[in-house]
Amino acid sequence: MNTPLILVAGGAGYIGSHVVLALQEAGFGVVILDNLEHGHRELVEGVLGAKLVVGDTRDRALLKDLFSQFPIQAVMHFAAYINVGESVSQPDRYYSNNVSGSLNLLQAMVEAQVDCFVFSSTAAVYGIPCQVPIPETHPREPINPYGMSKLMVEHILEDMERAYGLRSVSFRYFNAAGADPQGRLGEDHHPETHLIPLVLQTALGQRPHITVFGTDYDTPDGTCIRDYIHVCDLAQAHVLGLRYLLDGGPSEVFNLGNGNGFSVREVLDTALKVTQKEINIIDGDRRPGDPDILVGSSAKAQKELDWQPQYSQLDQIIQDAWVWHQHRHG
Ligand SMILES: NC(=O)c1ccc[n+]([C@@H]2O[C@H](COP(=O)([O-])OP(=O)(O)OC[C@H]3O[C@@H](n4cnc5c(N)ncnc54)[C@H](O)[C@@H]3O)[C@@H](O)[C@H]2O)c1
Repeated sequence: MNTPLILVAGGAGYIGSHVVLALQEAGFGVVILDNLEHGHRELVEGVLGAKLVVGDTRDRALLKDLFSQFPIQAVMHFAAYINVGESVSQPDRYYSNNVSGSLNLLQAMVEAQVDCFVFSSTAAVYGIPCQVPIPETHPREPINPYGMSKLMVEHILEDMERAYGLRSVSFRYFNAAGADPQGRLGEDHHPETHLIPLVLQTALGQRPHITVFGTDYDTPDGTCIRDYIHVCDLAQAHVLGLRYLLDGGPSEVFNLGNGNGFSVREVLDTALKVTQKEINIIDGDRRPGDPDILVGSSAKAQKELDWQPQYSQLDQIIQDAWVWHQHRHG
């Protein structure tokens, strides 16, 4: 039987590597394209055993070669810069990588007549929510260049479908968290800016303290509420989104979130319970641009892709991340 071959750009990173594992377990063949600026070669080679092409989405000649060398049937695109603060101080780098890199991939697909594209978008395209839980129809008004770079790609995808019939599924993720429950893969960003790994690194003694940014928000315990989605639930949604496109489905956009929000304080309390370690917690001031509550509605993905998240409990998300962190950094 012919195994569909999927190009996974950014497959050596956090979310991409979990998706590669899910694709392999679902019977797909995978070629990873990653420049390894933030990816992990040892996880690709040691855990995934997938073909790795070390290269950059901004290298058009390399992309052309890739599509002529491999019979790629679809592309999944995780390769981007992801740090919101950095996108404010260095917007040009973000537009170059996140927008130009994506456009290059899409142009190479059109040339090679590959018409299925799964895109990592973000809840940051919504900006400050005027409705919670946030549905896909919420206005898209990003408040930083990172969110804007992803919104630009969403617009490019709408035009590419009209012009060339290139179909896409864009997933707007909320906060990806957790790790492979078997401890094979997990989150390892440099620099790390995400709450759960920061708390766990503090529990491991690698950071002196963790700061709570703002304790006077309009939430029950005064700390911000966010939507944490287990990376394996994200990965399963990607397999379903890919099948949907390979079966001929038209372009769609789906939120991927937990549906339940958890406050920063709840995350810290759960981390204390899971790790059984001392964690030095400092209450700090609010950061500009942080809304009180960011929670998405993922009802559309559940209904239209038949996506059934398995790991929505916060203690499971933190437990899986903790196993990974101990193994990786302990
Ligand atoms: N982590 C989250 O909570 C979250 C939330 C919303 C959206 N996203 C999106 O999901 C995607 C994956 O995020 P992640 O957390 O796995 O990040 P990550 O940094 O772990 O993974 C990104 C990977 O892409 C590679 N890469 C970056 N630019 C590249 C380029 N030009 N060419 C080739 N490879 C390149 C990096 O080396 C890295 O391996 C990103 O597009 C991000 O914007 C992530």
